[in-house]
Amino acid sequence: MRERDRGGLTRRQLLGIGGSLGLMTAAGFSTAAVLGTRPASTSAQLISRVPLPSPYTVPLPIPAVLKPVSTTGGVDRYELTQREVRTQILPGVSSRLWTYDGTFPGPTIEARRGRPVTIEHSNELPVPTVVHLHGGHTPASSDGYPTDLVLPHGWSGVAGSEANASSGMHDMSDMHGMTGMDAMSGMHDPRAVVTRLHREYTYPSQQRPTQLWYHDHRMDFTAPAIWRGLAGMHIIRDDDEQSLGLPAGDRELPLMITDRAFAADGDLAYPALDPTLKSRPGVEERYVGGVFGDVILVNGAPWPVHEVDAARYRLRILNASNARQYNLEAITDDGRKLNLVQIGADQGLLATPVTLSAVPIAPAERYDVVIDFTGMPIGSRVRLVNTLGSGRTRDVMAFRVARAATDGSRIPHTLATDLPTWRRSDASAVRDFAFRAGRMGSGQGWLIDGKPFDPDRPDVTTALGDVEVWRLIADADHPVHLHLVGFRILTRNGHEPLPHDTGLKDTVSLRPGEAVEIITRFEGWSGRYLFHCHNAEHEDMGMMANLELA
Ligand code: C2O
Ligand code: CU
Ligand code: CU
Repeated sequence: MRERDRGGLTRRQLLGIGGSLGLMTAAGFSTAAVLGTRPASTSAQLISRVPLPSPYTVPLPIPAVLKPVSTTGGVDRYELTQREVRTQILPGVSSRLWTYDGTFPGPTIEARRGRPVTIEHSNELPVPTVVHLHGGHTPASSDGYPTDLVLPHGWSGVAGSEANASSGMHDMSDMHGMTGMDAMSGMHDPRAVVTRLHREYTYPSQQRPTQLWYHDHRMDFTAPAIWRGLAGMHIIRDDDEQSLGLPAGDRELPLMITDRAFAADGDLAYPALDPTLKSRPGVEERYVGGVFGDVILVNGAPWPVHEVDAARYRLRILNASNARQYNLEAITDDGRKLNLVQIGADQGLLATPVTLSAVPIAPAERYDVVIDFTGMPIGSRVRLVNTLGSGRTRDVMAFRVARAATDGSRIPHTLATDLPTWRRSDASAVRDFAFRAGRMGSGQGWLIDGKPFDPDRPDVTTALGDVEVWRLIADADHPVHLHLVGFRILTRNGHEPLPHDTGLKDTVSLRPGEAVEIITRFEGWSGRYLFHCHNAEHEDMGMMANLELA
């Protein structure tokens, strides 16, 4: 692979990932071996420089549901514009955000199973972007590969490909084989499909109903782009799920949890080496483990409060934080813990509900849970707290029980009967992957099997239809995500999976020193997909690999 020198630094030099790759090998399944190479850096939390509101004073916003521009031919067609806006996240403080259609979170897409969705994204931001539907069962051309960039107006950083880039997607057939060039890293990717200003993404919506999310996935700059606001929710529904009688309507709440920090001028603070996010990727040394903020936002509001009926609620929780993990507990004012009944995972409903006293949620995971406020005194409060946080990052949000109400909802004992039941004996391959820091030269990268991401290198090639077992090991917290497919967790550290692991997943949280085995069938479309750590900083610093379906 050829790298061009831009601004004196290539991506590899920047990350300190020099020549001697291959020093690190998969360490097998020994936890001791994993713990023997702890990452050299921990992570610092950013401190906000503006006054922060008291917790549970700001009302919980519910992101608007986007209206299709047309619904003809059985397809729901949407248009979204990516643009910078000034808005208030903290009361009285104006912040510049990068948004989908002017809001953070972006508008929610509501899809019906079996009805394809197309979304035309227009890029009015000052940098290239690319949209990925996380958890989507999506053809490769719409999956948002990190070099499939949509260039903004006047972008001059891409000497090689800008002249070739067409405007819009209407002549996709002409664009295959077009030269793509990641301007920032100088990384040449001949398979990239680069467009100018617009790109249309098509999602078949042929998958189990669930809560997905969409976010930016630009090579080397995903973490700061999401941090600035490029994230939104996308929910797939069907009649079967709706006939179950689960809490619905106002009693179904999508909750996107993120942490952020605010600079003195009110803008989001982020320790980017290049705050324009135009050329030089990476973060300041002490943040290479991940960027953490001191403000917890739910649906873009700081420590919000939501008025509820004394009834059951369905909480569709998404951790869209770059690096922060949460262990969520629901605690009443008199110190009682309420159960959180898990009904779904990343990829849809569980077979049967699982009663949890806490929900551990790593970046990009989703937990679908029911909480029951029935019998709570009117005026009382239930706080959702993060037991992994401290000080103000322990608080997340609160529910205030506002009124008595009737409740016709139920949690059926059988939620779904369509969960895949792949068995180890079905697997045609077993692969090992080590997610570990690599200290090389003067810096650090986050590597999979000792290698940083390279668009040119097919790391895994698998045949459509094959079942495989993947054994993942981690030196630090690494939420591992596969594009395209859902998987099931076979074992954790050689034992049965944990109670919250039972569903169909697309992201599995590995804690330091953990080993997890997952099983999946690679179904869908041929082409180039990804798997990576969803700590967004780790992802940008190399912890990503190609999954080629043939
Ligand atoms: Cu949300 Cu490639 O991921
Ligand atoms: Cu994804
Ligand atoms: Cu990681």
